[in-house]
Amino acid sequence: MIVISSSPSAVMALDPAPMLEWLRREAVILQARGTAFGEQVYLCARGRRHPIVSAARLEELGFRWPHDVQPVSERLLASYAPAGGIPAPRAGEFDAACLGDAMRVREAIACSLDGFGLEIGAGASPFPVPPRCRVVFGDRLTYEQLRAEPYPGQRLEDLVIPDILTDFDTIGNVAEESLDFLVACHVIEHTRNPIGSIAAAWRKLKPGGRLVLVVPDKERTFDRDRPVTPLEHLVEDHRAPDRARDYAHYEEFYALAQPVPEFARARAVERKFAESYAIHYHVWTHDSFREMLDHVEREVCPWSHVWTHPAVADESRCIEFYAVLVK
Ligand SMILES: C[S@@+](CC[C@H](N)C(=O)[O-])C[C@H]1O[C@@H](n2cnc3c(N)ncnc32)[C@H](O)[C@@H]1O
Repeated sequence: MIVISSSPSAVMALDPAPMLEWLRREAVILQARGTAFGEQVYLCARGRRHPIVSAARLEELGFRWPHDVQPVSERLLASYAPAGGIPAPRAGEFDAACLGDAMRVREAIACSLDGFGLEIGAGASPFPVPPRCRVVFGDRLTYEQLRAEPYPGQRLEDLVIPDILTDFDTIGNVAEESLDFLVACHVIEHTRNPIGSIAAAWRKLKPGGRLVLVVPDKERTFDRDRPVTPLEHLVEDHRAPDRARDYAHYEEFYALAQPVPEFARARAVERKFAESYAIHYHVWTHDSFREMLDHVEREVCPWSHVWTHPAVADESRCIEFYAVLVK
């Protein structure tokens, strides 16, 4: 049975104590000053470095500012692989503070994660996860390909090194029922068959496992002039994937989202299509996404709970909406 509600209580489970205990045992706080890392302080553990957002957060995690911060060489810091931030121990209490900005919502969702998971398409902004979790990173592109064509605003130092190559359309290279959670943040809009992606995630998750989707709200991005993708289209992409239908997405994208002047558009579309460049194939609002999830539950795979939440705050602090699906 599907439960779609605006209350997160059905999908949030909180217990900050194990996280704090683990941190005291395993983590060190490092900073390399005046370098490519700037003033950024990292909590380092298990070969990964997690950015700490503020001195207050460090204290919330049980460390003292600045006493517990060790200055180290840039080289040492770079030997830790980039990873997501650490949520505040009580961030899972989805309260009014969460409605203030996107990162608070991400952290509230993160607090409900446990065990072993995969993040697909982390880019240079890996999703926060409590340090008790083990995360592997996957992408359709290799690290070298990601470095060669960073998205606007991505810092190369923060670019995650994918542990596996996998496409969200099928989630190959991942065993069935092997994951406690799967995170895809600003990725599903890049898939040709999003219903197929959600079905693939269902197969890869253990019973009780969680799929976390963070999705750009088309009304808050460069997609605002595109029409919402109708459910019938998404169903058809799942039933019978078709390259001609994909081509139409490229035409729409380069006409309305990232407009190319008309005289040059046909060639640009042809080139990007030949490269399989990852445009936003489909676009949603929170409500149209819920309509798709409702269809998925009825016709494709029976999630036990589905929680969604619209974009919070204003456009300058949040362009995304959220879904957590529990198998
Ligand atoms: C827009 S970036 C998102 C980065 C980060 N998660 C964020 O929220 O800023 C999209 C990432 O997903 C990857 N990606 C796009 N389509 C994909 C697909 N079908 N399968 C796996 N990865 C994909 C891209 O290579 C890129 O790393």
